[in-house]
Amino acid sequence: MLTMEDIIRDGHPTLRKVAEEVPMPPSEEDKQILKSLLEYVQNSQDEDIASKYGLRAGIGLAAPQINVLKRMIAVHVQDSKGNLISHALFNPKIASHSVERSYLTAGEGCLSVDKAIPGFVPRYARVTIKGIDLDGNEIKFRLKGLPAIAFQHEIDHLNGIMFYDYIDKEDPYKEIENAIAIER
Ligand code: NI
Repeated sequence: MLTMEDIIRDGHPTLRKVAEEVPMPPSEEDKQILKSLLEYVQNSQDEDIASKYGLRAGIGLAAPQINVLKRMIAVHVQDSKGNLISHALFNPKIASHSVERSYLTAGEGCLSVDKAIPGFVPRYARVTIKGIDLDGNEIKFRLKGLPAIAFQHEIDHLNGIMFYDYIDKEDPYKEIENAIAIER
């Protein structure tokens, strides 16, 4: 199982590189890596396992964060109605998105960033995500709210983008036009 020791931190060059597409059908090795990403986020949200292994809680993890430059992400998060949104995806893409934006009023965090970096991170309010699941099937789904933000954050990791890149340096809490404020 993955622990915080497997997660590379801000400043590591891998986090700034563009990850490679995963060839389909996925190899057994790539499936194991993707499963381990999902398992980390699930474990990190289980109080007993997290405290036993010193896991920092997270809602998403991308393969580059364990120093694997391949396009794989896992997200495990509840939406505003309490429905669990849990996906492990190969080669995820934003197929389409709203014009309207959203942002978390508390800002974003990242398992690869040890200190809190304050500020609003503008995201698309609604996205349609496409990707390949662990069984090798193409799936497509629409998201809004926190899950939509989580997927955008993780897909950015595949392109070497960190959440704080979007924060206005002069004015971190600058109002974001045409955006929904999401309280977590
Ligand atoms: Ni992150």
